[in-house]
Amino acid sequence: MAHNVDALYIFLLVVTGMMALLVCALVIYFAARFRYRPGIRAEQIEGSTPLEVTWSAIPFCVFLVIFAWGAAVYFKERTPPADATEVYVVAKQWMWKVEHAEGQREINELHVPVGRDIKLIMTSQDVIHSFYIPAFRIKQDVLPGRYTVEWFKATKPGVYHLFCAEYCGTQHSGMVGSIVVQEPAQYEAWVNASPNGPLSASGEKIFAELGCSTCHRADVQGRGPKLQGVFGKPVQLEDGRTVTADENYLRESILDPGSRRVKGFQPIMPTFQGLVSEEQVNALVAYIKSMSTAASGDGTRASAAGPQGAAQTQNNGSQVQ
Ligand code: CUA
Repeated sequence: MAHNVDALYIFLLVVTGMMALLVCALVIYFAARFRYRPGIRAEQIEGSTPLEVTWSAIPFCVFLVIFAWGAAVYFKERTPPADATEVYVVAKQWMWKVEHAEGQREINELHVPVGRDIKLIMTSQDVIHSFYIPAFRIKQDVLPGRYTVEWFKATKPGVYHLFCAEYCGTQHSGMVGSIVVQEPAQYEAWVNASPNGPLSASGEKIFAELGCSTCHRADVQGRGPKLQGVFGKPVQLEDGRTVTADENYLRESILDPGSRRVKGFQPIMPTFQGLVSEEQVNALVAYIKSMSTAASGDGTRASAAGPQGAAQTQNNGSQVQ
């Protein structure tokens, strides 16, 4: 993203810099050219429509170019590619907690391989923070009570600064970390060194422990909606609206199930607000998503619902948490 943002920024600097120079030069020239001389009286000019239209129309067109260019960069920066690798981030006073889909957990560090699209799904445990990587030219507020998203593709190995860019209390300035961009082979070694099972497997375990599976059954229709294949699909609500079952909807349905209830189901699900941590909500969301990738036959992403995933769950069950 960086070169897009830089190109726009340099364009803005050049255009405004040239205008500033032009204005300064003309001020000096006119001051000298039309200075007071004894015996010469100033001629009064009553305005010129063509001149005024010109100096309004040209800047207007330049501003429109800046607007369209800025919008294009903005939408690109706001739209993660569909096949991006997902990483969950939980902010708290004063640290960044990172959970990879493969199960690695990190604090104030994020390891990524070079050349891969990374989508960060972020939330906060307390106040508003902001996830800022200056070298990648991306910054996104991280809010309590919902997910926000940002994405990047690192193109050069190295270690890059991570800052919190929203004042969040006494040690805000210490809420920093590093983005470690590695060559794919190095990254694989790092991944394999981690003892954790996939995040979705943690989610599956929590799903069973909380008894979710007694209502959200996989085999027959239970008292709650079936969750297989639900992620990313439109959902009919009891009040007649239709919503897309995205991360924020899944999250809300866990923490505040009554607010947007699926059509045809009774309001019997209890809230899990305060009973599950942000990390556990993330794991549950990852698990529900994994059911959908398995259902649609998309084998490219790690899926706990597949046969291999299920085996891994058993193997790693004791290490998760
Ligand atoms: Cu977190 Cu500032």
